[in-house]
Parts: sequence; structure tokens; C-alpha cells
Amino acid sequence: MTRAISLQDVSKTYPRGPRVVDRLTLDITPGEFLVLLGPSGCGKSTVLRMIAGLEEIDEGRLLLDGQYANDLPPSGRDMAMVFQNFALYPNMTTRDNIGFPLRIGSPGVDHRPRVDATARMLGIEDLLDRLPGQLSGGERQRVAMGRAISRHPSAFLMDEPLSNLDAKLRTHLRAEISRLTQELGVTTIYVTHDQAEAMSLGDRVAVLRGGVLQQVDSPRVVYALPSNVFVAAFIGTPRINLLRGLVRAPLDGAMTISLGKQFLRLPEPLSLDHQLLRVQQGREVIVGLRSEAVRIAHHSAARPGEVPITGLVEHVEFQGHEILVHFDTGSSPAVVPELEAPRPRPGRPARRRRDGSVLTRLRERSGAVPAGRAGPVLTLDHPEDPQGAATADARLPGDLIVRTTPDLALRHGMQVPLLVDLAHLFVFDRHGDRICPHPARQPDLGE
Ligand SMILES: Nc1ncnc2c1ncn2[C@@H]1O[C@H](COP(=O)(O)OP(=O)(O)OP(=O)(O)O)[C@@H](O)[C@H]1O
Ligand SMILES: [Mg+2]
Repeated sequence: MTRAISLQDVSKTYPRGPRVVDRLTLDITPGEFLVLLGPSGCGKSTVLRMIAGLEEIDEGRLLLDGQYANDLPPSGRDMAMVFQNFALYPNMTTRDNIGFPLRIGSPGVDHRPRVDATARMLGIEDLLDRLPGQLSGGERQRVAMGRAISRHPSAFLMDEPLSNLDAKLRTHLRAEISRLTQELGVTTIYVTHDQAEAMSLGDRVAVLRGGVLQQVDSPRVVYALPSNVFVAAFIGTPRINLLRGLVRAPLDGAMTISLGKQFLRLPEPLSLDHQLLRVQQGREVIVGLRSEAVRIAHHSAARPGEVPITGLVEHVEFQGHEILVHFDTGSSPAVVPELEAPRPRPGRPARRRRDGSVLTRLRERSGAVPAGRAGPVLTLDHPEDPQGAATADARLPGDLIVRTTPDLALRHGMQVPLLVDLAHLFVFDRHGDRICPHPARQPDLGE
């Protein structure tokens, strides 16, 4: 019933366009719920459409249950697709919309029991005689799901099926989809650009960037051990703090990571992870601190593994159950170009600084690193202008966001002691690849 889907080195280039999917290899096991996650334009829908047979595969192989399936017509693949802009037949009732694929598949059979069972499963029994025009957006989406479910396909392909709905309904239907697919045990590939949705739904999450697979792992692993700075920044709210750092590893003193005006002193004896940083001596790195890695507390309250810094309160964001405090710590943020929303700079015209070095820009121009596509995530080398980026970014409102309880009375301009938990320290090299925790480390996450 349910099936294994395998992509082997699959690539796709649209005529006169760049390569939009680049040597994608992905094995989806029977009954698995896999989420394809990535920013707009990274090739998610193209991958899904290739699996459905709606788009040709240029290079590589698609296997369905181990059988070569590149040339199999869509109707022979036994998959149901749910689109972002789900189209229902406007002059058909809910009952007829849900039953439509069944009537096409086996005409002359009484499909009522199957349609009724599907409607019950989706909680839309009362809506069976209504036309789509008489349904709300969420109800219409359920009918679209019903149409996909009713014929018991061997795989579901869902392309951002909830993105047209309001936040409350999205959360509700998300839970329904999760329950339904578990109940049916059908292999599901679900496309979204919403990381929260991906994390809550997927058995595994495959992160795409510029048509290139960055990582595929369980939600816990992509969060705790992101393979590179792009994945780290794409997953988790609030976004991980990314700061430009410089490793100092003197022979006769403590190893530190300098963060502009302050530094993190790595405690002796160095952990295995921190020992790996020695070879980065004198090099720029990217320090990643999720908001849970930093707490507001007196330096005297430091626990083992916590090191002190201070921050100047720039902005306080009230969230109800918690507050997000934006601090200026005198460091400069590292920018992941594809994920950066332009942030306003008071008193200056909004002008985006180009990321990357002269060398990177030259490479981009020569085509070796296609601009905005999957090359190195970041390249931190500004030998000619070590402070260039810092001066441009230092004007942004805060470089470190910390989460805390709403009872703390913090005001703009206060100088606040902070403790950084080095057990949660991420360090990436200047290309964005993870150094710390060690890339070969096996996830010790109880899985
Ligand atoms: N038929 C086409 N012809 C040419 N280029 C296309 C075609 N369809 C998609 N593209 C391009 O391929 C790239 C990937 O598109 P795709 O629709 O797969 O992205 P996506 O990840 O689904 O994005 P979104 O989240 O916005 O839906 C985009 O740059 C898009 O412009
Ligand atoms: Mg899409």
C-alpha cells in the first residue's frame, strides 16, 4: 500500500534557466513523513512535481519501491497531490468533489461508503451537500485533503497545503494532517518554507538551499546539530544569534573567541570540541548562540561551563509568556544573505551591504560560485577591511537576542550581565560549515 521513494542524484534545469535541483539524493521509507523545507525558490515544488511525474527528470533516477520510475506516467504512480492553491470543482458538492477520483478510477461502483468514511475522518460530514462557494477556506482545504485521501493512494505529496490559511487554522489543520497520515500510515512528502511547520510535522526534515540538499535528519537533530550555518539560521525561533568571532589560541594562555569588544574564554581543560578550535587560531569564525544558550544573571552565579559577557539593552520585545531582549554586545552579526530581511538603519538610506569578500565576488562574477545559490554559505575574509563589516552592521539594533521571563524589568540603555553556556556553543568556519559541535559527533539525543 505505502511505498518507498528514492531519488538518486536527481537534477533539473528549466530551459534557458539555471539548475534548480542539483544532484539530489534522498531515500524516503514506506510510511515516513518527510518534510522538504527551504526558502522560496529553492526547488521544493520542482522536486515534488518530479516525484509526481508532472515534471521531467533531467538527470538521475527516481525509484518507487526499488523500481526505476523516471518514465512512469503520473497515473501509474498511485500518488495523490495536494496543492497550495487547491482547486475544487466549483459546481460539485463536497460529496462529488471527494468522490471524483474514485468515479474516474472505477466508474459504476457505489463509492458512497468510502466518501462517507473519508468525510468522517476529516470531520466534514455535515458539509457533504455544500458547494465550495459555501465553505470557508479551512473547510475547502479539508475537502481537498478528502479528495486526496479517498482513493487510498500509496503516497501523499503535499505542496504547502496550508499556506493560504490563517495562523490558527493552520495550527489546527497541521495537527489533523499529522494524525491522519499516522492513521493511514501512507508515505508523505510535505513541502513548506515554514520551519515551525516542518519541525512539528516531520519524521525527518530535508533542508534545501538553491536546489542543493543541506541536511536531512529528524527535527531534533537538525536543530541541535545543524550541518552548517544556513540550516542553523533557518531553523528555530527566535533565529540563532550569529556573531563574527576570532579564535585566539596562544601557546601560553587561555584559548578565547574574541567577539569584537568582548571575548568568550574557553574553560580549561578544553572539551574535545573546543580543542578542535585550536587549528582555527587567528582565523575568523562564526559563533552561533541560540537564545537558550545565554541567560541574564550576575557573573558570580556562573555555573560550570558558563562564561560572562555584558550587554547593553537596545530593545525589549514583549511576547506575553516571555520577553526577547535585544542586546548590543559590541560584536558584529554574521549575515546569511538568503535569510536576511533588510533591517532599517535609522538616519541612513537602506542600502544593503554585499556579503562576501572581493575574492568571493570575483568568483561569483566568473560563475564559479553562482550568486545566491548553493556555494559556501558564508565567506568571512576581509583582509583589506577587517572592520568593514563591523562598522556597517554595528548600527543594527542589537546583535544578541536573549529570551527571558516577562517579570524582569529591563529598559533601553541598561548594562546587563550575561552568562553564555558553552555547552550550547556553535562555531562555524568562515564558509559556514560547522566545526563545533564536532561534525562527526553522533547525535546523543535519545533517538
Ligand atoms: N516552469 C518553469 N520554468 C522556468 N523556471 C521555473 C519553472 N518553474 C520553476 N522555475 C524556477 O525554478 C526555481 C525553483 O522553483 P520551485 O517552484 O521549485 O521553488 P519552491 O522552492 O517551490 O519555491 P516557493 O516556496 O516559492 O514555492 C525558481 O527559481 C523558479 O523560478
Ligand atoms: Mg513551491
